[in-house]
Amino acid sequence: MTVSTDQRQDTPIPKAGSEAAVVVEAPRSLSSAGKAPAPRRQATPSSALSSRELGLDLALILARYLCKTDHLHYGYWSSDMSIELANLKEAQERYTDLLVSHIPEGVESILEVGIGSGALTHRLIQAGYRVDCVSPSPYLTARARELLGDGPQIFECRYEDLQTPNRYDLILFSESFQYVRLDKAISISEAHVCPEGYVLISDFFRKETTEDGPIKGGHRLHEMHRLLETCTLRLMTDRDITDQTAPNLDLLNDFSQRVIVPVKERLFGFLAQKYPLPYRALYGMLRKHLRHAETKYLSGQRNGAAFRKYKTYRVLLFQQGCPGSAAAAPPRLVAQSVGAGADG
Ligand SMILES: C[S@@+](CC[C@H](N)C(=O)[O-])C[C@H]1O[C@@H](n2cnc3c(N)ncnc32)[C@H](O)[C@@H]1O
Repeated sequence: MTVSTDQRQDTPIPKAGSEAAVVVEAPRSLSSAGKAPAPRRQATPSSALSSRELGLDLALILARYLCKTDHLHYGYWSSDMSIELANLKEAQERYTDLLVSHIPEGVESILEVGIGSGALTHRLIQAGYRVDCVSPSPYLTARARELLGDGPQIFECRYEDLQTPNRYDLILFSESFQYVRLDKAISISEAHVCPEGYVLISDFFRKETTEDGPIKGGHRLHEMHRLLETCTLRLMTDRDITDQTAPNLDLLNDFSQRVIVPVKERLFGFLAQKYPLPYRALYGMLRKHLRHAETKYLSGQRNGAAFRKYKTYRVLLFQQGCPGSAAAAPPRLVAQSVGAGADG
């Protein structure tokens, strides 16, 4: 599929330290420097597999086979890229470059929350950062260990259940923030980031709308805003990359319309003809779930336009307890109304 790129307002990926929106001055030495390594501690692995976890496991299997990529995020689709599966890996590399470019100077230790198969972790370690990870999914954790070996400490638990005395120069969420309870995500990050350290969140949020739209997920941006007013994290950078991430939804929609829908129709038609009685019995039993899945995934509504309408994808950098932050300008984290364009 080739989608017109006209509607995408491309934002160039900044080089490290060249972010135009906000200049972040990192302290020379952050308090984690020279810390003795903390004892390895494993929290209780989460028990039951949720449908979201299963979805991520399957997404990784497909992404690896079809696109030769280990990343589980949307990617950053610059306007020079045609929107096709073959370009997903490149878009994901550009997104990774973008994220890394937002890590302030002086950061040495990172806690990465929700590492998927560890592809970003690997990149961070190669760049010289000391990285610990949080990963609640047994399947994804096993894939990450294959890639990362015994190097980084992986806390095999939900972020909400993290038990460690460690503090980090930076806590990083790459499309994992939406999975963590909002209040916990903020309060736990406040507890585990060094004084004057950073929290970097890259994820999509729901705009303030009366209806939720066909794409689930994401915390409500105005709830995030409300929480931030009472916490010690100060917003340093707020970058809107909705236009550059939305094409991923067009890609998935194209795949579902041109592959999954016809495969499903051919398969169901065959089963109905060959095994009419068991087919009807089974279809009757699963009717509700199948209809739900069809409306949700196969109706063609989950596309880039719907994403732009109902979601806003942000790269947000916060700094903990900046001296004098109370006197500084209040955070600019504006939820757009439906139909408005990205605010850049
Ligand atoms: C969409 S994937 C993103 C993976 C990776 N960060 C990337 O950018 O490719 C979401 C990740 O969040 C993790 N996750 C889900 N719920 C979580 C929770 N409550 N605490 C921490 N991580 C969670 C999943 O296991 C998965 O690794």
